[in-house]
Amino acid sequence: MGVAELFPAERQEAKPVDRITIRRPDDWHIHLRDGAMLKAVLPYTAAQFARGIIMPNLVPPVTTVAAAQAYRERILAALPAGLDFTPLMTCYLRDDTDPDEIERGFKDKVWVAAKLYPAGATTNSHAGVTDILGIAPVLERMERIGMPLLIHGEATDPEIDIFDREAAFMEGSLIPLLGRHQGLKVTVEHATTAEILDVVREHRSRCAATITPHHLVINRTHIFQGGLRPHLYCLPVAKRERHRLALRAAATSGEACFYLGTDTAPHVRGAKEASCGCAGVFCGPSALQTYVQVFDEEGALDKFEAFASLNGARFHGLEPNAGTVTLERRESRIAEAVAVDDTAVVVFRGEETLPWSVA
Ligand code: DOR
Ligand code: ZN
Repeated sequence: MGVAELFPAERQEAKPVDRITIRRPDDWHIHLRDGAMLKAVLPYTAAQFARGIIMPNLVPPVTTVAAAQAYRERILAALPAGLDFTPLMTCYLRDDTDPDEIERGFKDKVWVAAKLYPAGATTNSHAGVTDILGIAPVLERMERIGMPLLIHGEATDPEIDIFDREAAFMEGSLIPLLGRHQGLKVTVEHATTAEILDVVREHRSRCAATITPHHLVINRTHIFQGGLRPHLYCLPVAKRERHRLALRAAATSGEACFYLGTDTAPHVRGAKEASCGCAGVFCGPSALQTYVQVFDEEGALDKFEAFASLNGARFHGLEPNAGTVTLERRESRIAEAVAVDDTAVVVFRGEETLPWSVA
């Protein structure tokens, strides 16, 4: 008798899983933009996700209940027939945000969270918050009503090395904020460093982090591999390999404080392939295929549903979705770009052979 016959259970476990069915996932961080861009990119997100947190960094930003309601209507109007997608709106915080307006939008279920962009940290953030201490009344109100704060966690001092900006924000702003507002629910969005994941873990009763597909796949060297790769440039910028490995470990750990948020951020080709290109990776069309590939590579397919479909809903106090989606180990290819007016948006991993497909 051979060793394999002595251990039949082990032999079964070694067989690869080629199909996985999970509750329909949600995307807790999406840039849909407006107008022609919204119409072009929304079908890709709505095909993969049941609900999504919609970023408010339009021009002008979404700062009022009325603006959020109107934007939600424009999103629903742009949704192709047959797709079912619920946009969850957010409010863009400014230095002069009124706590009463915040509470009104939350109580009326117009928005589910508020977004803190440190002024100047990223695309369309110049109207954001210049002094976090100055918005203490808003944060206190959010704490009282149980409304989550979503944070773009990067320091804005141009003297700080771009690869250190998340760490600087963590030390100088995030940890103090968590200390001052001990009941505030906080999501660290698009986490990119090992150290911030540990801060989230230390505060996990009311703090979480979203993790993007691209930060699980690329490190900072990929942005310069064989020449400058503008379509891999986003903020926070990808960091060293050790951080990518820490992100993969966190995402696939099953810990409830880590969940899916793509940060899909479309910019037309000319705005990316430019002498001063915009930050943002358009990863919506390949998001689930990329995430499931990572979970497969890490031997953690059993943890995928928690990350994609359960943890974020629990954090936001929502039920998981009723339907399911099936992913299978079958090669697929996504178009290189999605047309918008007479130009296009380049897709993350477009034209690559992806080992997994959405069934
Ligand atoms: O790369 C990014 N793009 N990071 C952000 O925080 C904003 C986003 C955008 O709106 O394009
Ligand atoms: Zn974003």
